[in-house]
Amino acid sequence: MSGLDAAERRLADHVARQADEHPPIELGTVDYTMARPGLVADRFGPVLTYMSRVELEVERNVLELNAVLPDPPEIDRHFYADVWLPQETQHGVILDKLQTLIGLPAAEPDLTTVSFKLRLLGALGRIGAVQDVSRMLYYLTGMATERSAVLAYSDLHGGLLRLGERAIAKTVIAPIRRQEPGHFAYYQIAARGLWGQLGSWQKWLVRTLRRKTFAPVGVGNDHQRIHFGTVMRKLGVATGDDSAVARYAEQVARIEYELLWAHRNGLRVPTYVADAFHRALEAAVEQPKLESAENAS
Ligand SMILES: [Fe+2]
Ligand SMILES: [Fe+2]
Repeated sequence: MSGLDAAERRLADHVARQADEHPPIELGTVDYTMARPGLVADRFGPVLTYMSRVELEVERNVLELNAVLPDPPEIDRHFYADVWLPQETQHGVILDKLQTLIGLPAAEPDLTTVSFKLRLLGALGRIGAVQDVSRMLYYLTGMATERSAVLAYSDLHGGLLRLGERAIAKTVIAPIRRQEPGHFAYYQIAARGLWGQLGSWQKWLVRTLRRKTFAPVGVGNDHQRIHFGTVMRKLGVATGDDSAVARYAEQVARIEYELLWAHRNGLRVPTYVADAFHRALEAAVEQPKLESAENAS
């Protein structure tokens, strides 16, 4: 079996296991009992609002993938359409219900807008070599997104337990968090497999586009950047010192750094990931009223 075949088989096995072991969470298993819903809203309302929107917007992400990858490998399509989408949508539905129970408005996800930039990339993607660049960007974005989700749900789980809200920590956040590492693993296996097959101009293009376009998960405009910064503050990622943000960026982008930049021995790792998080935090600090504005909107 060639190396390529082995990687493809590994990916196929991984997707089959995900589908088998992680069906979408059943709504009947969720216990929304809370001792102090007002306090949950006060401490973690913006986090729940942000995460429910991002989870529900996977429906739009699939439209984006259909546009950007006109001819994807069957295993990618199977993963995002049949395994990942139903799991993530259910995360969104469960979190959205939770936020309405603590008195916040229901999520208003954008489920339909595919940007011009992505449609253009899709048109160029009819050239196979360009589509491989888009696929690599998709896997890198996927890794950063899923790591961010794991970190956020871990912090949220701990925070809710500290508030004494065991039911929602155990039946809402823990089951959702359990499904995210499998998504990360998919992108990691796929990214490692594809990177080795790219030519030098493709690698250059991936590095350049990544450096110029990296954004935290769910950030597509200034308002969402402010909101993401607020989420970082609520989850305790921002403790006032820069090294905390640098460590967070490292956790989010460790494999990306290794794949794209490790060959540049002696050169500093590019700071585009940490910079993006710093910008979100600064935006949130400048807009401290966001939480109440979010809750009222
Ligand atoms: Fe999720
Ligand atoms: Fe996920």
